[in-house]
Amino acid sequence: MTSPDLPAELRAALNARLEGLSRSDAAGRAAIISQTYREGGGSSTIKTETDALAYAVARMPATYAAVVASLNALSEIRPDFAPASLLDVGAGPGTATWAAAEAFSSLQAFTLLDANVALRTLALDLTRRSDRLRRITSYELGQARTYAAHAEAADLVIASYLINELNDAERDALTDVMWEKTRDTLLVVEPGTPAGYARIIALRTRLIAAGAHVIAPCPHDGACPLVAPDWCHFSQRLQRSRAHKQVKGADAPFEDERFAYVALSRARVEDRPARVLAQPDVGKVEIAAKLCTPDGIVVAKVPRRAKADYARARRWRWGDTV
Ligand SMILES: C[S@@+](CC[C@H](N)C(=O)[O-])C[C@H]1O[C@@H](n2cnc3c(N)ncnc32)[C@H](O)[C@@H]1O
Repeated sequence: MTSPDLPAELRAALNARLEGLSRSDAAGRAAIISQTYREGGGSSTIKTETDALAYAVARMPATYAAVVASLNALSEIRPDFAPASLLDVGAGPGTATWAAAEAFSSLQAFTLLDANVALRTLALDLTRRSDRLRRITSYELGQARTYAAHAEAADLVIASYLINELNDAERDALTDVMWEKTRDTLLVVEPGTPAGYARIIALRTRLIAAGAHVIAPCPHDGACPLVAPDWCHFSQRLQRSRAHKQVKGADAPFEDERFAYVALSRARVEDRPARVLAQPDVGKVEIAAKLCTPDGIVVAKVPRRAKADYARARRWRWGDTV
């Protein structure tokens, strides 16, 4: 299992870039960027290298944690998956690239794509400080769909927190191109909101129709059994560094990132286990856990008197397979 916290090399690279930068200036810029995201405005406010750095310090730890959690889930289902190449679409500061590099020592070639000059410049500065990523990274600047269409296919393709920045038509078109460029597995991660879940479900449906199979989180390739207003999402806790707290104007030493994701593969995985869809309810008489199973949603109830089962169920966490 890969740790959800930023690797030491990346933390050091970010801290080196932060030297001499006013934390209150960075906090102000990060607040404007977050506000724009909340209003659905995307990355358009990230214009300068300082904006890019403020964004990375404020958001990279959380998006990194969400990508790592998704990669851990897919590796649990496909422990033999050892990709040699990665295509990171809408790479921004290189978050998913760093996460995939930590998760898969097998990766030898990393291609990143993004339209934002400032984020690309920052990403290259950060990867330059990594012994591994310095030698193997190529980062294309431009529209994701155009560049992805010309990129070489990769074993693993990731789009993390990207598709929420695209309109419906562009999202569908990019989905098809990303799948075309996926030799083995495509991972898409979104914010864990009802809208993020809806985008994941639309992409999942589209690609299953094109022959994809779900690796995680779903234990089946059928329609999602959840009924609105319910939606599928997960939560990953991550530690906050001092700089992270300063730039977010927050005191708590950790935060919980809510995310939705889907990992789709060209290969079918048999016997996918059920998944815990919410933190189980541990009561005096029983544990109740909401599970997504190959046969639909089930609320599993494990009575205290079934000692061994109860002890096992006590260890279940939201997002686990059981
Ligand atoms: C929220 S950031 C996420 C960055 C990174 N993947 C992460 O998880 O931290 C979204 C990124 O998508 C990029 N992006 C949005 N639309 C794009 C497009 N049409 N072509 C290329 N990049 C795009 C933005 O420039 C930005 O870097």
